[in-house]
Amino acid sequence: MAQAREIVSTFTTTFELDYAASEPELRRLYENAKRDQWNASRDIPWSTGGSDDGRVIADELIDIYGSPLWERLPEKDRVALNRRIAAWRLSVLMYGEQGALLACSQLVNVVDGADQKFFQATQVMDEARHNEVLERYIQTRLGGLHYPMPDNERVLFDAILTDSRWYIKTIALQLVAETFAVAIFKMMQEAAADPLLRQVCARILQDESRHMGFGMLALPDIVQQASDGERREMEDFTCLALEKVLTGFFPLEAYRDIGLTPAQIEEAKAFRRDVAARNDYAVYRKYFKRDMHSSMVNNLARIGLLTERVRPRLAALGIQLPAAAA
Ligand SMILES: [Fe+2]
Ligand SMILES: [Fe+2]
Repeated sequence: MAQAREIVSTFTTTFELDYAASEPELRRLYENAKRDQWNASRDIPWSTGGSDDGRVIADELIDIYGSPLWERLPEKDRVALNRRIAAWRLSVLMYGEQGALLACSQLVNVVDGADQKFFQATQVMDEARHNEVLERYIQTRLGGLHYPMPDNERVLFDAILTDSRWYIKTIALQLVAETFAVAIFKMMQEAAADPLLRQVCARILQDESRHMGFGMLALPDIVQQASDGERREMEDFTCLALEKVLTGFFPLEAYRDIGLTPAQIEEAKAFRRDVAARNDYAVYRKYFKRDMHSSMVNNLARIGLLTERVRPRLAALGIQLPAAAA
């Protein structure tokens, strides 16, 4: 069993004394959250059969799909790789759910206002349910196979959990990390080979628009009121979060575990780099870009968190700044 990590953090808790509803939009999100709670024990059909051949996701979600290396793999290795890549991605998502659960429990303390605290309390419960349902899926379908937390994910959550300011947590969690997670969940939902995985993703996605909604409601005022220095700091933190979620997620261990040699793993990485450089990543275009660009980048720019100053940093990530923000 993996060891828990300890993260030392300090923040100031505000004890509210006024509980009247004052922000109707946030109160509405809170009401929706109470109304729309689902229960993994009751609402997921765990006894549904899996796919006939043991695949969990469509092969096209595997980075090396279509490469010469892939063409040489025997069917049994393709199935094994499919299951291991799925376990790797679901592990990453599950650590994200744990990180979100912890960050939102801190947000309950540090946000001002009863509406904000009530909403964050619902997100704590949502993230606990997401953590629970993914673990149960991995146990039910993938024999309990977990992969370790990637460095970039750990660094990002350490930054979120140790910064004392609510808006820094919210920028990185509710706007960047969760939008990214939504894009992955949608991709897995649409390209699931196992009908149970499709249902799990669909349930999680039901909750996510509320979480991003919190960021979009809470952040514009504080960004508007920020000094130039504070604004630059928010912007830099937004870029840091984007860099952490958009780079460094290569499921190396999954390739290693089906018995690929180091040279073959290099071949897999080179194939992926090449596809990315040609901007020919069909799956990315099909499932991903639309969410990443239409929701995340445009939302961040609209709030004022991406400006001309960080254009080169974004370009290095393959992100075009919308014209309106320039
Ligand atoms: Fe979640
Ligand atoms: Fe979430």
